[in-house]
Amino acid sequence: MNKVLVIGGGGREHAIADALHRSPQVGQIFCAPGNAGTAAIATNIGLKDTDVEGLLRFAQENQIDLTVVGPEAALAVGIVDTFRAAGLAIFGHTKLATRIESSKEFAKELMMKYDIPTAAYRSFTDYAEALAYVQGRPFPAVLKYDGLAAGKGVVIAENLEEAKAALKDMLTDSHFGDGKVVVEDFLTGPEFSFMCFVDGEKVYPMPLSQDHKRAFDGDKGPNTGGMGAYTGLPFITDEDRTFALEHILKPTAAAMCAEGCPLSGVLYAGLMKTPQGIKVIEFNARFGDPETEVVLPLIESDIFDIFAAVAHQCEPKQQLRWSNKVTMGVVLASKGYPGSYDKGIAIEGFDTVQARIYHMGTKMDNGVLKTAGGRVMMVVAEGDDIPTLKQKVYAEVAKIHCDNLFYRNDIAHWAL
Ligand code: AMP
Ligand code: GLY
Repeated sequence: MNKVLVIGGGGREHAIADALHRSPQVGQIFCAPGNAGTAAIATNIGLKDTDVEGLLRFAQENQIDLTVVGPEAALAVGIVDTFRAAGLAIFGHTKLATRIESSKEFAKELMMKYDIPTAAYRSFTDYAEALAYVQGRPFPAVLKYDGLAAGKGVVIAENLEEAKAALKDMLTDSHFGDGKVVVEDFLTGPEFSFMCFVDGEKVYPMPLSQDHKRAFDGDKGPNTGGMGAYTGLPFITDEDRTFALEHILKPTAAAMCAEGCPLSGVLYAGLMKTPQGIKVIEFNARFGDPETEVVLPLIESDIFDIFAAVAHQCEPKQQLRWSNKVTMGVVLASKGYPGSYDKGIAIEGFDTVQARIYHMGTKMDNGVLKTAGGRVMMVVAEGDDIPTLKQKVYAEVAKIHCDNLFYRNDIAHWAL
C-alpha cells in the first residue's frame, strides 16, 4: 500500500485527498498543511506548501511513495525539481514548465509560435509605450500583469482612465513586483475550464467544467478565487471539446516538449468559446480551484494510477474512466470576501448535509467547526441533469448555518 503526500490546504487539495482516499492502492495520506476537512481522511502535517526543504525531509523520513502538488506557488519555487533530484516520485511540473502559468508572456509567446488560438497581444515594460498602444486599440482593454498574482493580475479597462490607473499600478508603482504587462484584445463568449493530466506529449483529458469568478449573483461584484462550479456544460459540444483537445491541449503539451520543458502534471486551459472559435484565455500549471472539487468526484478509475504514471513517466495501468453524471458545487464564503472578513465564526448543520463537503478555510476549535478563511467550504452534489441537481445542491447548502457566510444562488446559470 502506498503512502501519498498531498501539498496544499484548500478545497482543491481536499478533493485530491478524497479521490486518493477512494484508491485501493493508497494506504495512508498526508496533507501539508491540509485543513479541517482533510484531517478526517489524512494526517495533516504543519508544513507550509512552499517549505521545500521541510517537505523533502518529511517525504524522505516517512518513505512517501508519491507526492501530489496542488498550489502553483510550490511548483514555482521548484518543489518538483528538488524532489526529483532526490529521487522521489512527485506529480507536478518543474519550475521551468510552470512558466506556462507563472509568466503570461511565456504562455503568449508559446501560443503564437505554435499557432495555438488565443487573443492577439503585445507586452510592455514601459508605461508610455503601453499607454500609446492601448490608446490605439478599441476598449475594453485587457491588461495582465506578467507574473503569479493569484488571479488578481488581470484588469479589464473599460476606458482610458481605468487603463491609466491599472498600467500605473502594474508598471510604475511596482505594486506587484518588477513590472511587465501583457495587453491583449478583449474576447467575448462563455468561458470554460479544460483540465488534462499531461506526461510529456501524452494528454489524458478530464471532464469540462465552469467556474464562477465574481462574488455575487448575475456575475456581479469583485473577482474571487471562484464561488462555484459545475460539470456538464450544454453550450460546449463534443466537436468543441475535440477541437480544444486536438488544437489546444495536445499541441501545447507537444510545444512544451519542443521547448525543452515537458509537462508532468495538470495542464489547465481556461478557454472561451468566441464567435471566432475556441481560444485560450489562460493556462494554469495545476488543478483549478474550485473546478477540481466538481471534476474529481466523477473519476471512476483509480486516481493513484494516473498520478503515478505521470510522476514515473510511464503508461497508466488502467484507462482513465469518468462517470456520465454531472456535478455542481456551491462555495460558502465569509461575508466581506474577497475583501476583509471576520474569522472564527461557528458553523453548524454541516454534519446533516447529504452531499460532499470540501473544506477550503475551516478550523476545528475544541470540537467546534469554525470559519478560518475567505472561501470556507464547498458543497458538491452529483446528479443526472443540471436543473434537478441545482435544487438538490441548494437544499443541502441551506442545511448549513453560520452567521457569517454567503453564497451565490445562481451557480450554473449559463447552463439553464
Ligand atoms: P485570467 O487570470 O487570465 O484568467 O483572467 C481573469 C479573467 O479575465 C478571465 O477569466 C476572463 O473572464 C477575463 N479575461 C482575461 N483575458 C480576457 C480576454 N482576452 N478577453 C476577455 N476577457 C478576458
Ligand atoms: N478556477 C480558476 C483557477 O483555479 O485559477
